[in-house]
Amino acid sequence: MLSAAGTSDARAAVRCAAEILQAGGVVAFPTETVYGLGADARDAAAVKKIFKAKKRPGDNPLIVHVSALAQVESLVREIPPRGELLARHFWPGPLTLVLPKSDLLPAETTAGLNSVAVRVPAHPLALLLLETAALPVAAPSANLSGSPSPTTADHVLADLAGRIDAVLDGGACEVGVESTVLSLLTSPPALLRPGGVTLAQLCAVLGEEVADLSSGAASYEGTPPSPGMKYRHYAPHARLLLVEAGTELEQRIATLAAAMQHKGVTPGLLLTTETAAAFTDFSPLEVLGSQQDPEAVARQLYGAMRRLDSMEIDVIIAEGLPAEDIGLALMNRLRKAASCIYPAPEQNDDKG
Ligand code: TXA
Ligand code: MG
Repeated sequence: MLSAAGTSDARAAVRCAAEILQAGGVVAFPTETVYGLGADARDAAAVKKIFKAKKRPGDNPLIVHVSALAQVESLVREIPPRGELLARHFWPGPLTLVLPKSDLLPAETTAGLNSVAVRVPAHPLALLLLETAALPVAAPSANLSGSPSPTTADHVLADLAGRIDAVLDGGACEVGVESTVLSLLTSPPALLRPGGVTLAQLCAVLGEEVADLSSGAASYEGTPPSPGMKYRHYAPHARLLLVEAGTELEQRIATLAAAMQHKGVTPGLLLTTETAAAFTDFSPLEVLGSQQDPEAVARQLYGAMRRLDSMEIDVIIAEGLPAEDIGLALMNRLRKAASCIYPAPEQNDDKG
């Protein structure tokens, strides 16, 4: 682990990580969203090491990270006006743009697609690493494929120790869920994955609608607009049962937990502060944060899933939040992770 605790330590650790990248190695590093597992995006052999370390399916393309918009130019055929506008507003930050790709990048990086996903991350260590290495860095989340994304260096090591060259330790990630992925290949632009930048923020800056292709895409027949959509993602080892937000939430969770226990199945709870108040005697219980502060809930989500997973439980019963703003990203991850979703009573009524 490369510790970046003090300023001079940080510079030395980043230099070391940059040298590994330049030599064709793979290094995990913090971004504001989650930790990424980086390699030189132009180097097919280096990129293959990412897929091997993560056990990632070869048809799921990587996001290429650069330190500034100017560095995107050589990676793409063109930056459309919408791209310029969004980059100026949201970079550095948790927004990934899908653009037509140039010939600089090998097929391995983009899984054979003729588009490339690019972003400028906001974490100071990520930016320093990109500037020092002076190369485009392909980086998916630094977890084993299918596990929850890592939001600390310890999470990275829990999944990938012995499989990667180094991890640059920058503490806990600020956003906690992955970036928003927006395709600019179509008009209107298409939201492929909700994330740190919300749909409302995108629409406000663009002054137009964005087509939301991210929901209801957990299991795709045929070719999905984003290859990652067809994989079950973000899932802990224990089965996750998601109870959607709505009336009588505490009652519905208590009934489900009791039914599990009755069957000899041990549940753990993943709840907001408000709902957890009704379960103070329950164990194990992970409290994500207040419903009034969904950003805090997002920050805690993956770490809490991992903590519950390390306990002797069979299922995680998770509470749903309203799917709006950052809650849209949260619910996208929870719904993809869930083996079973219990709709809110209102939705039951709709179905008759
Ligand atoms: O916040 C993040 O985005 C983190 C940090 C490390 O930057 N990275 C991340 O990467 O979450 P990953 O590989 O776990 O997710 C990338 C998603 C996948 O769903 C992938 O299918 C999609 O972006 N993607 C990548 N390139 C694409 C392309 N050319 N067209 C459509 N979707 C693409
Ligand atoms: Mg991932």
